[in-house]
Amino acid sequence: MAGVELSGVTKAFGGFHVIHGLDLKIDDGSFTVFVGPSGCGKSTLLRMVAGLEDVSGGVVRIGGTDVTDADPVARGIAMVFQNYALYPHMTVRQNIGFPLRMQGAAKKTVEQRVSEAAEILQLGELLERKPAQLSGGQRQRVAIGRSIVRNPDVFLFDEPLSNLDAELRVSMRVEIAKLHKTLGTTMIYVTHDQTEAMTLADKIVVLRAGRIEQVGTPVELYTNPASLFVAGFIGSPRMNFLSGTYVDSFVTLVNGVSWHAELDIDGSAEILVGVRPEHFVPGPASVSLPLSVDIVEYLGGTRYVYAALPGESPLTIEDRGADDMQSGSSREFPLDTSKALYFTPEGKRLYALG
Ligand SMILES: Nc1ncnc2c1ncn2[C@@H]1O[C@H](COP(=O)(O)OP(=O)(O)OP(=O)(O)O)[C@@H](O)[C@H]1O
Ligand SMILES: [Mg+2]
Repeated sequence: MAGVELSGVTKAFGGFHVIHGLDLKIDDGSFTVFVGPSGCGKSTLLRMVAGLEDVSGGVVRIGGTDVTDADPVARGIAMVFQNYALYPHMTVRQNIGFPLRMQGAAKKTVEQRVSEAAEILQLGELLERKPAQLSGGQRQRVAIGRSIVRNPDVFLFDEPLSNLDAELRVSMRVEIAKLHKTLGTTMIYVTHDQTEAMTLADKIVVLRAGRIEQVGTPVELYTNPASLFVAGFIGSPRMNFLSGTYVDSFVTLVNGVSWHAELDIDGSAEILVGVRPEHFVPGPASVSLPLSVDIVEYLGGTRYVYAALPGESPLTIEDRGADDMQSGSSREFPLDTSKALYFTPEGKRLYALG
């Protein structure tokens, strides 16, 4: 078991800088998820922790030890990739035991660790099969089994579930959460999947162009994002942004709908109002927004209504209504302004006073 600490870590490929002096402390035993747009440096960062990629500057510590120049095998880590390659000619048993045999472990040790891993991952029945005789989820479990037998201090996962179909992703997500509970080992996990990030993480690290934008618990990032970028990135469907103005303690949208708010601004300003899809609900601080309905998606218990202010792009509204709502019709939607967040047009969060 070990925590991970990055201090002033930079990375450049030739003259191309991809990670810019990054500091991050990952607690021992925690589950940390890296998210961010494609190309922001998630895999590069993970590979630098693993030692598969040299750092251009800064220090990497695992369990308090400086491993900046240490070989991958000396770091006590195990990494699971999206494209896990199993050996097709080996059985599940042989695949899982492979890293231990490579280390020259005793036969008895190999047997014991393989059966422990098989039990944790419920692969006991499948040990004599070849990879071709397994489903995608079972194969991914074998790949994880191969990392478990090494008994690492830190698990590194780079989008391990993205090759699986939707249903399998959900069940494997639960498996990985259980694995973390059972083993209590530090895990660092890269994903594009909002649900994986929100459900698995103790802490989410939002990366943007090689810098940390915000670190926090899933709830912190969802309810209290530090910037427009985080507000728009965390949450699915994403937060709506409405343009408006702030004058004399009043927020006014382009259609003239307005409400009182005390923001940390001197004088007047152009602002963006951020509203989550589930915040179009009545309440003491609600205003009524006349919108024209574009499309309605029924999901069973809830539905997403895509509806727009004249001349603006459609908003996503989540509601539980079952009444008939025709495309092209106009209607009033309540908006709970107490839940609204405010940003400058440049993306800086504006905080409400008091
Ligand atoms: N070996 C390399 N040589 C040059 N540039 C590289 C190399 N590896 C990665 N990069 C660049 O570094 C940046 C970060 O890449 P990285 O793979 O870390 O992104 P990512 O956040 O994992 O993206 P994705 O979500 O698409 O997997 C990208 O601009 C990428 O093109
Ligand atoms: Mg990547």
